[in-house]
Amino acid sequence: MARPEAGPGGRIPHHVAIIMDGNGRWAQGRGMMRVAGHREGARAVRRVVEAAARMGVGILTLFAFSSENWNRPGSEVGALMRLFAVALRRERQGLLDNGIRLRLIGRRERFSDSLQRAIAQAEELTAGGTRMTLNIAANYGGRLDLLEAVRRLERRRAAGGLDPESLTESDLAAELYEPTDVDLLIRTGGERRISNFLLWQCAYSELYFTDTLWPDFGEPDLSAAVDWYASRERRFGRTSAQVHEGGD
Ligand code: IPE
Ligand code: IPE
Ligand code: MG
Repeated sequence: MARPEAGPGGRIPHHVAIIMDGNGRWAQGRGMMRVAGHREGARAVRRVVEAAARMGVGILTLFAFSSENWNRPGSEVGALMRLFAVALRRERQGLLDNGIRLRLIGRRERFSDSLQRAIAQAEELTAGGTRMTLNIAANYGGRLDLLEAVRRLERRRAAGGLDPESLTESDLAAELYEPTDVDLLIRTGGERRISNFLLWQCAYSELYFTDTLWPDFGEPDLSAAVDWYASRERRFGRTSAQVHEGGD
């Protein structure tokens, strides 16, 4: 069911970002280990990726592991890393077949060599996908994203290739892992916070919070979020009357 008009003014958000929260509580509520929730969460990822591509979303950015998640018990971090490598190897062919380009956003240097290889292989295999871009945010932090962008700009300035006075917002955005503004930010699992996700890119996003735990999230939930998005009036600082006139 492809819907028309993806983009800031359209009914289908061009860039959807999701904070996939609630795996641990999903498992604990069933008397299971937290890792069982992460495994079930990986199944939800597959459903939602497929649903988003069908709806005509252009970019889907999923928060899989934050730069703060290293603070979890070593056993949980280890299990998450293993699950991530397995999922990459299992899903990459399906992504390729569906025209979906996978990219990892975040600092990959901290991952094991074999996980880094699995990431690079999945990225290379799917690089030609044009139907949808799937960004997996892993070891990602919004502040770190900005800090690294500033470092790169500073290096260019020091090399004489940049005049600070002529620097634009687009120049800074271009240095981020993902420069595109988020149209719709979804957080599952009941919390109402951003947890250091795409700080710059969410400056004007519509924010959708749901109590549904991530492993229970599927196509009907994504559709509900997208329908809610379509009902929002995005004013970008203008008045409602201006928006309806379509002028300035
Ligand atoms: C989100 O689920 C997945 C990751 C952060 C890796 P959680 O593991 O945070 O689940 P809760 O919030 O403890 O239920
Ligand atoms: C945010 O979830 C990060 C991911 C979904 C990967 P957390 O569960 O880690 O967030 P906080 O720490 O409760 O805000
Ligand atoms: Mg959580």
